[in-house]
Formats: sequence, C-alpha cells, structure tokens
Amino acid sequence: MAGRRARLPVADASFDGAVCVQVLEFVADAPAALRELYRALRPGGRVVVWDIDWATVSWHSNDPARMARVLEAWDEHLAHPSLPRVLAPAMRSAGFQDVAMAPHPFATASFDPGSYGVAIIPAIASFVSVRRGVSGDEAKAWASELNELGERGEFYFASLQFCFQGTRPS
Ligand SMILES: C[S@@+](CC[C@H](N)C(=O)[O-])C[C@H]1O[C@@H](n2cnc3c(N)ncnc32)[C@H](O)[C@@H]1O
Repeated sequence: MAGRRARLPVADASFDGAVCVQVLEFVADAPAALRELYRALRPGGRVVVWDIDWATVSWHSNDPARMARVLEAWDEHLAHPSLPRVLAPAMRSAGFQDVAMAPHPFATASFDPGSYGVAIIPAIASFVSVRRGVSGDEAKAWASELNELGERGEFYFASLQFCFQGTRPS
C-alpha cells in the first residue's frame, strides 16, 4: 500500500491478490485500510497481511531497565504496537472470509547481520535517540551492548511475526 492515502488509487475489484507487509501497523485507521484492500480485490481474491507483535520482541541485555526504556520509545514509531492481536476480527469486519493466521518466530542466537534482530538495531538506536527520556548516549550504549554481546557469542533475539490471509467472498 504505497503512500499515505486513505483510498488506494485503483479501481474496484481490479486485483486477484493483495499483499500488505508491515504496513498496517503504521496506519492509524487500519480497519479503513482493510476495507480498501477488500474493495480492490475481485470476488474470490486473496489478501495477505503481515505484521509484528512488538510486545513479543526481546533481546538479551545486561541492562534490562535500559532495554525496556528503548523498546517503549521504539513503540512510538508505529500506530499499533500489537496489531496482530486484533487483525483477525478486523479482517472479518472488513468482509474477508476464511481468515487464517500463521505465526512465524524470528529468533536467533547468532550475530548474523542479515537477521532481523541484528539488521534493525541501527534504525531503533536512531529513532529512540532523545525520545521518551532516552538520551543520545543511552541509545548508542544500547546498540553498542548488543554488538559487544554479538562479538562475545552471547547475542540473543526473538520476536513473533504473523501472516494473516483472507478471501473476498465470491
Ligand atoms: C516497514 S516498511 C514495509 C515496506 C514493505 N512492505 C516491506 O516489507 O519491505 C513500512 C511501510 O509502510 C508505509 N507506511 C507507513 N505509514 C503509512 C500510512 N499511514 N499509509 C500507507 N503506508 C504507510 C511506509 O511508506 C513504508 O513503505
């Protein structure tokens, strides 16, 4: 779903499928966005929606109080930190049927730069810096600790991401 439009710039019933990955958690009126996806699909068309429950995100840290402050500040980057908890009924309310949810654990004990839990560290450090009582130095220290844990072979990250699908009735 490109841009920040309340209405998708597409004709009614013009797609057989729609994929919406890590977007609805940013959209204040997620039910309206789901209705738009429904409108854009042909009868029988399928939607796939992927979002994260950010409350399931955890890194190992020797400073859990700082970790909690950073994650609380990071929650401000989106409208719905735990959208998957309400997505199934929201999709049904938009008109989709056969709504199903598949959980996907993203977890690693390796400091792999290609993994979600490592790749996202710089974005979080940058976003939380000077936000909700997290200083710039504290944000840098948070990221540095995760890098140091990685160098020592002590890195740990876990999160649950969710793939929902539904069909516009024929
Ligand atoms: C985490 S990115 C995901 C991008 C892509 N779907 C992917 O998986 O790589 C979040 C996307 O949501 C879009 N976005 C954020 N707020 C939005 C809004 N209110 N309406 C529509 N799109 C929005 C951003 O432009 C960005 O492309």
